[in-house]
Amino acid sequence: MTKLAVLGGSPVRDTKVNPWPKWPVWDEKEEKAILEVLNSGVWSYNGPKELEFNKSFAEFTGAKYAIAAANGTVTLQMALEACGIGIGDEVILPGLTWQATAATILDVNATPVLVDVCEDTWCIDTKEVEKAITPRTKAIIPVHLYGSFADMDEIMRIAKKHNLWVIEDCAHKHGGEWNGKKAGSIGDIGSFSYQLSKHLTAGEGGSVITSNFELYEKLDALRNCGRRPEPESASKADKGEGVYFDAGNFYQSGNYRITEFQAAILVEGLKRLPAQNKVRDENGIYLSSLLESIPGVMPMRRDKRETKEAYFNFAFRYNQAEFKGLPVQKFRAALTAELGIEVGASYTPLNKCSLYVPHTKPARHKLSEEYWAAINPERFELPVCDKIHYEGSACIHHKILMGTKADMDLVAASIRKVYDNAENL
Ligand SMILES: Cc1ncc(COP(=O)(O)O)c(C=O)c1O
Repeated sequence: MTKLAVLGGSPVRDTKVNPWPKWPVWDEKEEKAILEVLNSGVWSYNGPKELEFNKSFAEFTGAKYAIAAANGTVTLQMALEACGIGIGDEVILPGLTWQATAATILDVNATPVLVDVCEDTWCIDTKEVEKAITPRTKAIIPVHLYGSFADMDEIMRIAKKHNLWVIEDCAHKHGGEWNGKKAGSIGDIGSFSYQLSKHLTAGEGGSVITSNFELYEKLDALRNCGRRPEPESASKADKGEGVYFDAGNFYQSGNYRITEFQAAILVEGLKRLPAQNKVRDENGIYLSSLLESIPGVMPMRRDKRETKEAYFNFAFRYNQAEFKGLPVQKFRAALTAELGIEVGASYTPLNKCSLYVPHTKPARHKLSEEYWAAINPERFELPVCDKIHYEGSACIHHKILMGTKADMDLVAASIRKVYDNAENL
């Protein structure tokens, strides 16, 4: 039996000889575009690259409007503010997500209401959403986590029944489709991140998309110190529909703008995204099929209504009992050593996450004793999130999905090797 790499044996993949595909991806097109921006002197503020990217991203997602901004955190905040959500309002979100999804709700003085997720997709459990609705609920933020899709049919049904806004957090789902509609274009607003690890990246950055003109106007003002949309850029996006803010009809806001350098990189990256997603999806589907034959590891459930996958991390479920009692932490360490790439856990559930600690900021968040109690994350019970994070998750960056089928065979062989040697760990 081959010795495990974590115990000093040879790894299944020697990444010095055979490295994983690199991320981020760029070539001379980005170099040329960045130089163009540099030499133009237009480095920010509704420049030609920004407008081009907004137009292309709207077309890509099928939404009427796309607005780029500084990152995928401020886009969530802008989305909440555009929907008029604030003090006294509750917003329902999954307990398993990056802290920004909840932190932005706090930052608009609303109450984040954490609910549990589905064990087989790690996305918000719609039955828990219904249970969490109160007269104060104003919005749901489904997160399409690691490339899984939240059940958007159910979410839209619930939202319609209770008259709620739906803000899709698509930081992990650029290009995924549900029943032929792109992620982010199903709810009222879609929010995207272009941080370095994401499917489409400029190092940092984000976008909001919407097909609602009133929301578009507010979103555009919110990212730009509250200025009304400029008629030229607005009319390009709007193609003549709606009424622009009158001069003087400003919003209170700050500067959440993207730079022209980021937009230049995004214009080029977006051209590559469909082909990259296709490779990731083919490999993700193939690797999931390989996992079926290894005991104790289970691919995420993919819904038939997902007409395009857009895998982000390759995430899968782990069952310690079937792995001869090997704790998941040891499984991940052993697999990391075989693959030469980090195999991580899911996000920490937000009721236990060291980066989601509202009570560390009383000067901002202690609006009243009642609110202070309501924003305590520890008041929520999230047993499924706990089980996923502490006992059963493995996540690998999407760059492993950008290689060949033979690479996927190696990933499966590595998992099999850890399984065969589990009793030695
Ligand atoms: C689910 C989710 N939402 C929002 C964000 C925030 O995006 P950004 O890092 O661009 O602010 C992230 C970033 O990782 C994320 O994973």
